[in-house]
Amino acid sequence: MIEKVFVPPIKIQGIKTKIVDLISDSMYIEQNTTWYEPFMGSGVVGLNLAPHNAVFSDTNPYTIALYNAIKDKKINSQIVREFLEYEGAILAEKDEEYYYFIRDRFNEMHDPLDFLFLNRSCFNGMIRFNRYYKFNVPYGHKPERFAKAYVTKIVNQVKHLETIFPENNWEFTCCSFEETISRAGEGDFIYCDPPYIGRHVDYYDSWDEEHEIALRDALFASKARFMLSTWDENEYRKNEYIDTVWKGCYKLNKEHFYHVGAKESNRNAMMEALLMNYDPTTVPVHPRNEIRQLSFEDLIDNQRAVI
Ligand SMILES: C[S@@+](CC[C@H](N)C(=O)[O-])C[C@H]1O[C@@H](n2cnc3c(N)ncnc32)[C@H](O)[C@@H]1O
Repeated sequence: MIEKVFVPPIKIQGIKTKIVDLISDSMYIEQNTTWYEPFMGSGVVGLNLAPHNAVFSDTNPYTIALYNAIKDKKINSQIVREFLEYEGAILAEKDEEYYYFIRDRFNEMHDPLDFLFLNRSCFNGMIRFNRYYKFNVPYGHKPERFAKAYVTKIVNQVKHLETIFPENNWEFTCCSFEETISRAGEGDFIYCDPPYIGRHVDYYDSWDEEHEIALRDALFASKARFMLSTWDENEYRKNEYIDTVWKGCYKLNKEHFYHVGAKESNRNAMMEALLMNYDPTTVPVHPRNEIRQLSFEDLIDNQRAVI
């Protein structure tokens, strides 16, 4: 169990904030393990759980660029405060028109601060690009979005990154999952959270059966331990790939309320699954996680099965 989950400054659909604890409890980290996270998204999982050495990657270059700018001290919390206060005041005055002005500016210049502004003022904190790789999420219609308290919240999230980056040897890189997985070796740990197969997908890249199989092949060929997040089932459907593509893995699951889209009908309770190539009851207690006192069985009162 980790005491408090740190929420990063970037939001994304499918963010795993609510299952960081579950992942923490069943990840396999030893003293010299390097963490590999090829589908970083907001980074919430690794930013909370990765040991000293880690590689975070994603095909979307913009969160990577923002985190690298913070790591390289090109952007800090003070700069973020000044930027959001300044641009936020214009948004409050000009509303929608200014959101689309920043969106056009971002699509031309790719400034990480504009990306942060858009991510925190767009509809539902989504990240979505059209086929020309232009950010195309509409306005969230909150002209007062960057009020003082909200700016302070984001500034504190950036401040936290400023504190933890120098303490760790963490790399942020824009590349495909194949490239990242190929770097992991024996004793390393790979946490994968790809776009969910067979479900609504709006990421920088698309995701289909071919990708799912390529991911399975890359992970099965690796000597590292891996954990994969996927969906298990909801009221209407079951993820058939678990029993076929991922046959032979261990599985843990937990109910999770999944938010995509604004309509109530899109907010179905969905069972998340974690698939692993090791028995999660055998994980060592890592120093990063040493406050863990309850047994695995106490913490996970959900189903557990070997597929
Ligand atoms: C479900 S999101 C990850 C969410 C993340 N775990 C979190 O909690 O914030 C999936 C991510 O995979 C990335 N992605 C999609 N296709 C990819 C590929 N072929 N290689 C690497 N990353 C990819 C997307 O850009 C997106 O950030």
